Parts: sequence; structure tokens; C-alpha cells
Amino acid sequence: MAASGMAISVVEKTAAERFGIMDMPSLEFTPDVARETEHLYERVAHHIPRIEWPVHAPYVAAINRLKKERNAIILAHNYQTPEIFHCVADIVGDSLQLAREATRVDAEIIVQGGVHFMAETSKLLNPEKTVLMPDMAAGCSLAESITGADVRLLRETYPGVPIVTYVNTSAEVKAESDICCTSANALQVVESFGVDRVLCIPDEFLAQNVAAQTKVKVLTWKGRCEVHERFTPEELLAYKLTDPSIQIIAHPECPPDVVAIADFAGSTSGMIDYVKTNRPAKVLLVTECSMASNIEADVPDVEFLKPCNLCPHMKRITLPKILESLVFMREEIHVDPAVAERARRAVERMVNLKN
Ligand code: 13P
Ligand code: SF4
Repeated sequence: MAASGMAISVVEKTAAERFGIMDMPSLEFTPDVARETEHLYERVAHHIPRIEWPVHAPYVAAINRLKKERNAIILAHNYQTPEIFHCVADIVGDSLQLAREATRVDAEIIVQGGVHFMAETSKLLNPEKTVLMPDMAAGCSLAESITGADVRLLRETYPGVPIVTYVNTSAEVKAESDICCTSANALQVVESFGVDRVLCIPDEFLAQNVAAQTKVKVLTWKGRCEVHERFTPEELLAYKLTDPSIQIIAHPECPPDVVAIADFAGSTSGMIDYVKTNRPAKVLLVTECSMASNIEADVPDVEFLKPCNLCPHMKRITLPKILESLVFMREEIHVDPAVAERARRAVERMVNLKN
């Protein structure tokens, strides 16, 4: 309230008003653009034919110039396409790594190469930065499977049972939970309470995969990743029949019977580390298609067999949309401050857990 007793309504300026709109850069494949981007082409040459590079290169050059002018960075999840992952991203990684790394850089603007819940997590951990989402429709079947009201109902139904929420959820859902987890630390988080029953939501397969490794009774929800639920053990074992030395590396969002036959299961970054460290001669990455394409160049001695499924949400993010995001400063991510404070607490509890 103002001294006069009149309420003051503060109309927040949009990102476009705060930072201004720029002119759309030329998208011609000029000799300058060719020179500027040649070293980047080498990173994606195994994936993009030379004849297609003139389509991508002008976007790559324009985005990289604009990032400097805007003091912006691009976070790219491991499932982003190779031209985003290798040519314009500043930070790459799994969903949580991206948001945490962004807290360590001195940029005013974050452009999220990933899906909506990731952009929200970036905003939670970087509240003073402007977070832009190149396509607001890039969702996630897990995040959409549950609401804050559902979590409140679960709390009423299971009084006193701790609620662990996967990071693949909205800020509203995180705000209603006790702590977050990722695919990398779900078991550790579930066991951290020292109790015999824990709710681990919303991914029923992640919860079942955790339950297989602990004495804690893990209650869950009916959420599933539409990409990972489609893998079957039969499909993977058919590859093994052709060559028993093939290693199977699966994401824990896969069904338990798939994880049971895997040589390793872990977060997207865990899967990448496993391949880089162990250098299997032949490997099946049981996850989204772009993962294998993104790491092939770093491990030329590893042969990737690709029983992959595409994530339609991740694939909504493209170079043209990233460029528009930087030119027009849209779409900005906002999280209600009261929700953000509680959601941040759940994420920070996880981050602060001792190993
Ligand atoms: P990660 O946290 O392992 O990167 O997983 C995110 C995701 O969306 C997997 O489908
Ligand atoms: Fe969501 Fe699955 Fe896509 Fe990951 S791969 S963003 S969990 S739908």
C-alpha cells in the first residue's frame, strides 16, 4: 500500500521492453559465414551432409553473434539436435546440470534448449536472470501427468510419507513436494529419509527401478515418459542375439524389464560418462535419438546401434526458433514468486544432500 492508502499495481516490463528488439540478421551463406562456422561444421560432419550446411550455417553464425551482443547463453539438453548441441550451446548436460551450471556464469539471459520444465528449473535457480523458451509448447509427458492439486491429495492420502518429486515436473508440483530427485540420484534421495515408505512421483518406471534397489517401499504415480516407455526387452535382446558383446545402456525412465537387461542405467549424463569411460566396442543407447548423434564425434572407436525413439517435445526446439528468441526476446519464463520459493527449496534440498 502507498502512504495515501492507494494500492500501486506494478506492471512488469516484458523482456522485449527491457532489452529491446533487434533486426532479423541476414541468413545468406556468405564466404564470411562459411569461414566463421567451418570449425563448428567439423563437430557435426558425421551427422549433417556438407550439402546441407549452407542451410544451418547462417543461423549458427547469427545466433553466436547475437549471444555476445545480448550477453546471453544457451543451455542445451543432451537430447537437442547436433547443430544446437555442438554449434550454438554454451552449456550442455542433463536436466539438472544445465540449471546448476547456469548459476556459475555471468550472463543476463538464458535461452533454454530443452523442454518447459527445464526452463522453469533454470528460472528457479537463476531468479535474477531472464530465461527464454524458444517454443512454449515443448512440454513433457511426465511433467504433464501430475498437478500441484494431485500432490496435495497424495499428502492427505498418505500423511507423514515423504514426497520425492522427479525434476521432470512443473514448479507448482515441485513446490508441493519435500525434495526433488533426478534420474541420477533417485535412490540416494529416497533412502535419505531413513523411513520405510516414500512417495516417488510421477514416473512409475523410475520409481519401480528405484524400488528394485532398496528395502524402502516406494509408492508412485501413473506418469510415464512417452519416449522411454516404448522400449521392450525383446527389441533389445534381438540386437544382442546378433552380437552378445553389445552393451546395453538404458535410461531409468525405461520399463523395469528393460533396465533389468541393461549393463548400466543412469541419467543422460551418466550414460555419456559410461560410454566415454568404458569405451564398449558396440553400444545400444536406450534413449532419445540425439544422444548417440551428439557423442559419436567424441568416441570414434565406439559403434552406436540406434534403437532410439524421438522426443517430439525436444525436437520443437530448432535453430530458427532460437534465433527468433534472441531477436525478439521471447518467450520469457515467469514463475509465481511464492511458488518459486517453495519449489527452489525442494531443488536445493536435493542439491545439498551429502553423497
Ligand atoms: P536427464 O535428467 O537424465 O537428462 O533426463 C531428462 C529427460 O527428460 C529424460 O527423458
Ligand atoms: Fe519428457 Fe520423455 Fe521427452 Fe524427457 S524424453 S522430455 S521425459 S517426454
